[in-house]
Amino acid sequence: MTRIRSIHAALFAGALLAGCSRDMGGMGDMGGMMMSPDAGDMMMVPGVMDVPPSEGPFETVLARDLDPSPDVVEVALEAKVADVELAPGRRVPMWTYNGTLPGPRIEARVGNTVRVRFKNSLPEATTIHWHGVRVPAAMDGVPAVQSPIAPGAEFTYEFVVPDASTFWYHPHIRSDEQVERGLYGAFVVRGDNEPAATSDRVVVLDDILVNGDWTLSAFDPMHAMAGRQGNLILANGRARPIAPMERGGLHRFRFINAANARYFRLALPGHRLLLIGTDGGLLTAAREVNEVLLVPGERADVLVVMQGDAGTVLDWKSLRYDRGHGTGELPDAVVFQSRNGSGAPVSTPAPPTVLTNIAPLPAADVRRELRLEESMNMSGEHGSGHGSGSGMGMVFSINGQVYPNAAPLNAKLGAVEDWSIVNTTEMDHPFHLHGFRFQIVSGDGQAPEFPAWRDSINVRAEKTTVIRVRLEDHPGVWMFHCHILEHAERGMMGELRVVKP
Ligand code: C2O
Ligand code: CU
Repeated sequence: MTRIRSIHAALFAGALLAGCSRDMGGMGDMGGMMMSPDAGDMMMVPGVMDVPPSEGPFETVLARDLDPSPDVVEVALEAKVADVELAPGRRVPMWTYNGTLPGPRIEARVGNTVRVRFKNSLPEATTIHWHGVRVPAAMDGVPAVQSPIAPGAEFTYEFVVPDASTFWYHPHIRSDEQVERGLYGAFVVRGDNEPAATSDRVVVLDDILVNGDWTLSAFDPMHAMAGRQGNLILANGRARPIAPMERGGLHRFRFINAANARYFRLALPGHRLLLIGTDGGLLTAAREVNEVLLVPGERADVLVVMQGDAGTVLDWKSLRYDRGHGTGELPDAVVFQSRNGSGAPVSTPAPPTVLTNIAPLPAADVRRELRLEESMNMSGEHGSGHGSGSGMGMVFSINGQVYPNAAPLNAKLGAVEDWSIVNTTEMDHPFHLHGFRFQIVSGDGQAPEFPAWRDSINVRAEKTTVIRVRLEDHPGVWMFHCHILEHAERGMMGELRVVKP
């Protein structure tokens, strides 16, 4: 712990020298950067602004399908700067797809061809990555397989969608900046056996760090340690929006955590949630839970029966969660609200029992260990060169290598591999693998409570999570990284090269 405390103290001192005290001082009524007199115990994350509820549309915008064929979904996306109304009267210039936050929701059916005609009208290069969708490597939107799309340039992504689930899309260069500024959208793929539900909506969760005038806060080296956790929580691109709900029923919510760093521990007090799906689609059976934890990048599908009187407004909360750096001391926060309609409760369809089959993967042919590490760079150089500002900074690494200065891992197509992801640090890291879905073998030595397909998983501070993956179908170069985007862009990232044996 001594080492970590001295990193805090040194970083804090460096931040003051770099002039960030000004920002922190201006945040008194903006949630405030909390810290104790001992800089070594300083919390690296701000509190959350209290904002009034926001009437107005709750749902994300559906992308228009430009192709008449039933098997093809063709959408046009343009990345551009646009003013977005984050709260009544608060219009903020954001980086958007087609001018909306989140970007348009892409909807397809399993087996469809999805074609995205993309134009970059941003002032800098970008790409689109289809988080969780098992696409061919050339379509994965990472710099290892595609040159960045320059300002003014276009690129067409095209692939078949093999799995039903809730996915999302976002850039994969300078993601800590580009996603923070608003570049993300939902991607829903439906299969033939979707459970009966009264409604089916997507809720994309995010938070951003804003100044007193609601402009986006510039990156500060202080943000690297815990990731840029925001002081303004957004649900479907608005601060505290209200979802109109019919009472009763069995409502499906597809949650996506698109935040750079925030963990959402979601709950609707007074309600049980029926968890039916994770990143990689439906579970084998519905599970009744009180809450769901969503780490950055992760998704969860839940069903809920809306309780309460007509007109009642309910708070969907993110409960206190300790991922390190004082995050556990921040109080519960309201994420969004729902309002019961004035009508009588609608009938509740029988909740699904059996949902799908998830065959356990066979024993692994290959075992690897990936150690997640952090250190401090005293020279002022950032790991991948993306960091802005000068002065010392955090550097993150996997097995001692700071991406992009990291040797790729080599693997054989079709192999089953066990990866022990060892978190050597004092904070949690959300680990994400591209191109394949995996199953958990153990988390801190415990077998998982239920089978599930995942592509993003929490690795607790100073603990180890073991995942099992079959490297099927898609040879090529695949990224893996921490989904706290400030960590990924400062080196906690790597490449897996999968070749036909
Ligand atoms: Cu959602 Cu490599 O990312
Ligand atoms: Cu991390």
